[in-house]
Amino acid sequence: MYTQFSQPCPVIFGRGAIAALGEKIAELGCKKVLCVYESGVEKAGIAARAIKSIRDKGIDVVSFTGVVPDPTTDVVDEGGAVARKENADCIVGIGGGSSMDTAKAISILLTKPGQAKDYILAAPIFIDTKTPVILVPTTSGTGSEVTKVAVITRPDANAKWSVFVNTTYAIVDPELTLTLPRSLTATTGMDALSHAMEAMTGKYPNPHSDLVGEAAIRKIANNLETACNEPENIEARSEMALAATYAGLAFNDPITHVGHSIADALSCRFHTPHGYNCAVALPAAMRLVAPTLPEKMGVIAAAMGAELKGSETGEELGTIVAEKIRELMRKIDIAPLSQMGYSREDVLALAPEVVSNHLSSYCPVPITEDVARNLLAEVYDAY
Ligand SMILES: [Fe+2]
Repeated sequence: MYTQFSQPCPVIFGRGAIAALGEKIAELGCKKVLCVYESGVEKAGIAARAIKSIRDKGIDVVSFTGVVPDPTTDVVDEGGAVARKENADCIVGIGGGSSMDTAKAISILLTKPGQAKDYILAAPIFIDTKTPVILVPTTSGTGSEVTKVAVITRPDANAKWSVFVNTTYAIVDPELTLTLPRSLTATTGMDALSHAMEAMTGKYPNPHSDLVGEAAIRKIANNLETACNEPENIEARSEMALAATYAGLAFNDPITHVGHSIADALSCRFHTPHGYNCAVALPAAMRLVAPTLPEKMGVIAAAMGAELKGSETGEELGTIVAEKIRELMRKIDIAPLSQMGYSREDVLALAPEVVSNHLSSYCPVPITEDVARNLLAEVYDAY
């Protein structure tokens, strides 16, 4: 049996790394850049720093600032129209997953004709995009800077679907996360944790995903609470930035599984933040798969800081991991679903969406409607 592990692009990591942006674009020989970001990135002064770095190299820049949370195919089409009109030859995505995924999807429209919905499909396809894409995360969560996937909402299908594209560079600068509010630090950090854990426990983990996944879990367990409580603590921010990138590398090939299926269903129905949805789904997802991979669950439990006897069963390890996740969630003030306005009935009604999400097919336990309903009940009742 063989497996594949890959890193889509070089990573430039460290404090002040954003200054390298213009230099990298100049090396690529690009003449006109489309910067893609949302209003928060502009308000934090991060877009201005990125644009200055590009202009300092004598390269033209235009901006597309129409990114919204859970970006839709319409948003991608709007950005694509700007890119085509301006003859952009480089796309820079600055922000959280929404900005970076929009930037990736826009790059398709510079290679291919038509609209975003022609390429964002339930069964994702790979598009061999030609325009360089540089990704600059401003949160420590999504890992989108080092994955080939762009997740985009298809309003006509009431679903989040995906596409795979080429990326050129990731510029990971922990200084860009210093102004991130506490709640976003918490939820994006939990998104990263879910990437690492789901990558390691899906149907297709590999030696690389296990290595960087475990390292990401350890860093998050040791630093997320500090990053929430001390927003200007650059050491904790740096560790979280690295953890999110490691977690992105971890799931690039194995993808995520049922935790993210549940999160997508919650996003489409209630529009709560992706990282929040991933957080509430993760403990139940880990308990579900734990009996099928006890050794792996032991590694995850240890990385979360659990003291183990070594004789625990897979089921017991799943419960230990789930409780460690919930303990972390309580420390960083992740609210239970009931406090977010969800009713139990609303949540259980999402079972068909969880079953039909393609990510569920990566779960080592088959996701039937009964399994999905039990998972959703645990998600609602146990936290
Ligand atoms: Fe995620």
